[in-house]
Amino acid sequence: MNGKELFVSPAEMQRQRDFSRLCAELLSQRFGETPKAFVHTYGCQGNVADSERIKGALSDMGFTFCDRPEEADLVLFNTCAVREHAEDRVFGNVGALKPIKESKNNNMIIALCGCMMQQTHIAEKIKKSYPYVNLVFGTFAVWRLPELLYRHLREGKRVFDVGQEEGRIAEGGSVVRDRFFKAWLPIMYGCNNFCTYCIVPYVRGRERSRDPEQIIAEAEELVKNGAKEITLLGQNVNSYGKKPDFGVNFSELLRRINAIPGDFIIRFMTSHPKDCSDELLETMASCEKVERHLHLPFQSGSDRVLREMNRGYTSAQYLGLCQKAYALMPDLAITSDVIVGFPGETREDFLKTVELVEQVGFSSLFTFIYSPRNGTKAAAMPDPIPAAEKSAWFRELCEKQEAMASVRSASFVGQIFRVLVEEYNDGVLTGRTSGNSNITFPGGEELVGRFANVKVTSAGNWVLSGELV
Ligand code: SAH
Ligand code: SF4
Ligand code: F3S
Repeated sequence: MNGKELFVSPAEMQRQRDFSRLCAELLSQRFGETPKAFVHTYGCQGNVADSERIKGALSDMGFTFCDRPEEADLVLFNTCAVREHAEDRVFGNVGALKPIKESKNNNMIIALCGCMMQQTHIAEKIKKSYPYVNLVFGTFAVWRLPELLYRHLREGKRVFDVGQEEGRIAEGGSVVRDRFFKAWLPIMYGCNNFCTYCIVPYVRGRERSRDPEQIIAEAEELVKNGAKEITLLGQNVNSYGKKPDFGVNFSELLRRINAIPGDFIIRFMTSHPKDCSDELLETMASCEKVERHLHLPFQSGSDRVLREMNRGYTSAQYLGLCQKAYALMPDLAITSDVIVGFPGETREDFLKTVELVEQVGFSSLFTFIYSPRNGTKAAAMPDPIPAAEKSAWFRELCEKQEAMASVRSASFVGQIFRVLVEEYNDGVLTGRTSGNSNITFPGGEELVGRFANVKVTSAGNWVLSGELV
């Protein structure tokens, strides 16, 4: 596939807009003037960004959005396949839609999409066991939603579009965002790394980057419309710009977005340690709009396990990266993901993970118990450690991290942070510091979506408390 075929053509996008208009007519015949949609998103920010595009397409068809499936004419779940627990929740919630559909709205359209649906065995299960689900499509088909919905409305049949194909990039569709001041901006899709435990490369396809001009134009538009925080998204943003090659790497992209005039901040995720360059750390340090937060998943502290995981670095290399980053940015917050109980992991391996956590000093850690994923290499590896033992290790690691994080949080007391205020609840505002720590403080609703200087007055386990200065 050459660079050109990676992109959905403008003519094809126009065709989808034509389907949107046809859907609007059929929908108004069926549901009246303002059909309502309930969209629920599971999984990572990449999925949240997809849902914003799905909502854009639905809005083009005349849908408004509601907060409860009971009120909806169309219910759409955008699903995640990363761990078994995520999938179980989706099945449970899809099951709960059946009585709602039967009792409230027999005409209700139920649509399932996202990473879980991109797996053949899941789509088959939905086909067989959930006959009241009308529309199922995978991650590769998101841009074709108007056409798929039209087929369902027109023919009344169930529509499944979960074929294996090369994932493409669709530009120019509508986007409906939840909050105007906080924006997710995808810069690339897919993943080529095939970490042996991970389903993402199978359900998201090969890594592909958006044109930097499109990204910058979207960022400019966001800033013009009042965005205060832009988070650049990709499974491995450090390898942005490799395919197709636009001659712009991730550091250059960061510098160009940083140069957009306006008072806003930039975040990005996720960084893969194997592609985290000195240039990136130096760029972070020199770009005043880039926040002091690096999410850098290490997964394990054992070199043997890292090799088995196909991660492409050693724990010493990881530690070296963190030390370099702290040297350049002493106030940097590093967060990470870690997996406990990878197949064949021993107590010794696990203790190496604990050791790395002690050495780095993470501001927070997302800890997961390994979950076998159908079709991945690790799912076929012998996994002799009992679940109860893995759970005990998991708790041990969480306790270690909590103890370290509370020392770190306590050191913030008395410091003043510039915080983007995100929420208001009963006289209390919530925002996040540059290092992505949550902070709450008393204040008025008019501050939501604006920057405020907040002095930390006390530090709890998960959240800081403060006051406006
Ligand atoms: N692209 C990102 C991670 C995306 S998935 C990266 O490489 O860092 C988010 C996290 O889920 C991963 O970092 C990993 O810690 C966890 N994860 C992925 N697959 C998993 C599995 N099979 N079992 C348990 N945790 C898993
Ligand atoms: Fe999964 Fe590894 Fe790709 Fe992250 S880099 S999405 S963990 S395969
Ligand atoms: Fe889940 Fe897909 Fe994201 S599997 S974590 S929603 S890429």
